[in-house]
Amino acid sequence: MTVPSRPHDQETILVTGGAGFIGSHTVVELLSLGKHLVIVDNLCNSSEEALHRAKILANNNGSLVFHKADILDAIALERVFEQHKFSACIHFAGLKAVGESAQIPLGYYQTNVTGTLNVIQLLQKYNCRNFIFSSSATVYGLPTSEAPIKEDASIGALNPYGRTKQYIEEILQDIAVSEPNLWNIILLRYFNPVGAHQSGIIGEDPNGIPNNLMPFVAQVAIGRRPVISVFGDDYDTKDGTGVRDYIHIVDLAKGHVAALNKIQSTVAANSALGCVPYNLGSGVGYSVMDMIHTMSKSVGRALPYKAVARRVGDVGSVIADPSLSERELGWKAEKTLQDMCDDLWRWQTQNPDGYITTSGTSTPTTPTPASHSSIVTLPTTLLPIVTSVPKATLKPIALDTEADSPAAFAMALSPSSSPAPGPNADIAF
Ligand code: NAD
Ligand code: UFG
Repeated sequence: MTVPSRPHDQETILVTGGAGFIGSHTVVELLSLGKHLVIVDNLCNSSEEALHRAKILANNNGSLVFHKADILDAIALERVFEQHKFSACIHFAGLKAVGESAQIPLGYYQTNVTGTLNVIQLLQKYNCRNFIFSSSATVYGLPTSEAPIKEDASIGALNPYGRTKQYIEEILQDIAVSEPNLWNIILLRYFNPVGAHQSGIIGEDPNGIPNNLMPFVAQVAIGRRPVISVFGDDYDTKDGTGVRDYIHIVDLAKGHVAALNKIQSTVAANSALGCVPYNLGSGVGYSVMDMIHTMSKSVGRALPYKAVARRVGDVGSVIADPSLSERELGWKAEKTLQDMCDDLWRWQTQNPDGYITTSGTSTPTTPTPASHSSIVTLPTTLLPIVTSVPKATLKPIALDTEADSPAAFAMALSPSSSPAPGPNADIAF
């Protein structure tokens, strides 16, 4: 098959894991700026539908080529490099469930560490040394104080998932040192990304029982689960519940644009960054109860919750000091906690069962290690979207252009769209 690649004088960005939660929101921001993207994802925790929707949300700006491939499949990955010349790579692909990482640490080290090595080796071979890595606040481990965490705080992840991030960071530091003045590596340490695109058209679509607080709260709100379990009410925090630095997913996505700009301006100045970490957080902490109360406002009714024992390995308070990102990347989180909850609720009500494929079934989520990449050039036509919106209390927000508005999106529904199961379907405890 002929692959529609960009001419070599136009910059093309490799986005691994671009169909996932953070990846798809970042893809919208990049496409909106007219960027040319090549996405590699094996869809083990995501749906290609997210990419179709991202393209629509970006009003068909930029270009997007999707390769369904596993980053562990070095041959398939190299084929992608043979077909495109990359100016930079944003590397989201990886496994991210803390609990699962303790059960299958080998799988986590293999996908996260070996997978990243595969990507980095090919970047080096094909002479692209501009790299943005999805790291995590989890690398900080147990905070030594309640003060907001700066990038130079001590590192010491507490679980296998966190250690994959920590080890990758160290590997990337070594690589930058090994070729002085050549690499531009930015380690983005995310705090707690939540919410969804303000259109409600893309969002987080977790498999099974959500591990994280806000997707769980959203599923309680929609009626898929009965009650929120609050893990611990005796932390040394304002109301005894855990405090985190929640960041709107669109703010986080924009952090990647800022990082890319930083790399581009560094390259233009004939300089190199080496390997630098930046926190992406808001600098503000909210408790579990703050989150439940704010989400209750979005939903229009009090959400049920009960206090249960602390979760093993949890800490009381984790808050970013994002000042370095503001100073050096020119980036700052802008959206409010109410925005995060309103947008999450809009996504949840418009997509009660997450992404729906063209066959009308829920998103396929079975891991599919690919032996060869399959190349898909995304069409610009719209795919079916669920329109049976239960209990929606939020009006769709107006976007800038008619073409990419949620209303236009819904109007383009295929007649074969299958309605989603009701809000109480698919309960798994
Ligand atoms: P996600 O699971 O939604 O996205 C990850 C994507 O990578 C998915 O589309 C998945 O299909 C793909 N993928 C996984 N293994 C792959 C493989 N072997 N080959 C190709 N593709 C593969 O997760 P996310 O929340 O979007 O997270 C993106 C990155 O950010 C991850 O590296 C994660 O560890 C990191 N991170 C996430 C959070 C968070 O709270 N969401 C916090 C800190 C860091
Ligand atoms: N919590 C509950 N009930 C739940 C889930 C969570 O009370 O059902 C509480 C937790 O105890 C914590 C807060 O909600 O106080 C946030 O928990 P999350 O699981 O949503 O987030 P964590 O901060 O524990 O961890 C997340 C990711 C990690 C990542 C980290 C970065 O899961 O992978 O953010 O800060 F490293």
